[in-house]
Amino acid sequence: MTGDLMENNIIPMYNVSKFNFSDEEKLILEELRENLIDLAISEQMSSFNEELILKDILRFLENRLQNRFDYEYKENLARNMMKELIGYGEISSLIEDDDLEEIMVIGVNAPVFVYHREYGMMETDLFFDGEDKIINIIDSIARETNRRIDQQSPILDARLANGSRVNATIPPLSANGPTITIRKFKKDHLSIVDLIRYNTLNSEIASFLWLCVDWLGVKPANIIVSGGTSSGKTTLLNALSIFINPKERIISIEDTLELQIPHKHILRMEARTVNIENQGEITIEDLVKNSLRQRPDRIIVGEVRGKEAITLFTALNTGHSGFGTLHANSSRETITRLINAPMNVPKIMISLIDFIIMEKRIYMSDGISFRRITEIAEVVGMEEGTIQLSKLFQWDSENDQFQNLTIMSKTLEEMANLKGVSFLN
Ligand SMILES: Nc1ncnc2c1ncn2[C@@H]1O[C@H](COP(=O)(O)OP(=O)(O)O)[C@@H](O)[C@H]1O
Ligand SMILES: [Mg+2]
Repeated sequence: MTGDLMENNIIPMYNVSKFNFSDEEKLILEELRENLIDLAISEQMSSFNEELILKDILRFLENRLQNRFDYEYKENLARNMMKELIGYGEISSLIEDDDLEEIMVIGVNAPVFVYHREYGMMETDLFFDGEDKIINIIDSIARETNRRIDQQSPILDARLANGSRVNATIPPLSANGPTITIRKFKKDHLSIVDLIRYNTLNSEIASFLWLCVDWLGVKPANIIVSGGTSSGKTTLLNALSIFINPKERIISIEDTLELQIPHKHILRMEARTVNIENQGEITIEDLVKNSLRQRPDRIIVGEVRGKEAITLFTALNTGHSGFGTLHANSSRETITRLINAPMNVPKIMISLIDFIIMEKRIYMSDGISFRRITEIAEVVGMEEGTIQLSKLFQWDSENDQFQNLTIMSKTLEEMANLKGVSFLN
């Protein structure tokens, strides 16, 4: 569902289409909410069976409204009430809109803001007039993700089932009331062709990466996609995965399942955080360690950031190939991060990486952003204790074009030798 778009001079408006409950219906809704919370607490439910709940609500409404309205009205009402109750209340329709990248609740009596994929930052006509309404949404997110938020732990950091990341805070941490920041993950993943169309990369770079990822079936390159928050790292990794040779056995390891790799032979592993009793955690590192006993050809780590880095590099050292994203602002910084705490990868192992792809989210003055692969660097080895990088491609911001700087690529040469073919760079 997409809200209406309306332009004004300073910041474009986004009109939320919402259901208007009558006063009586609002009362019923509150009653239902309390029943539902009791039910959730008594049964320790972390997820709901929507069909059953819809039936329950409908029965409740039939009882209350008797035959004052026709069945169709009551069914529609029940559906909208369910959305309020087990969805994310008034922001449900925003969460469902795939054109939005971010949803930002900044407190009480202030508009909710959204970041639109095409129009950039927008103001919505949605206001919360009481803290409790925002808290209700935060509570249902906490319940769904088995977390809690209260005065003892007033910050909630969670991932929704659909891959979206949520951060929430409550007063007094946030002075103007509870806040919610949601970074959404696009339901329809961008393909490599979409990325070429958006000029995130060009077809020359795409074919180069194809060659590197597939490696003519000889020895696939180890690649790290690096960039800032929301620069499109995961999206690029996902798009590149189409080039993985279908004969490979892939193991993907993530915090939350975001990657949608089209291959048949894949094990998708998801880490687990502690439950309410602080138990049962399975980390990315545990999963990377375990993957070594699963005979992987390629290990894909959604985001490398901790101790799992060493385990991953050990795997690369024993002939597996690896693919992952990392948070850094340049290829040099990528290496600095890898060799320092908490990752602590021995310097000597860094040359196991073949390429670092840098991606950036670039903002224009009108608040609209776009993504570019700003650099592809090849790790060529180590000289006098310094890791040597060679730039193969570079984005030129002045005319928004990509420059091919490849005079020679170590990786391509190696591939050509192994395969007995020659390449013209
Ligand atoms: N090249 C791109 N062009 C336009 N939108 C993109 C592009 N890459 C990613 N996005 C969108 O940006 C958001 C963040 O992307 P994501 O891949 O999760 O970033 P990261 O992994 O770097 O945090 C998603 O909503 C995604 O759909
Ligand atoms: Mg990511």
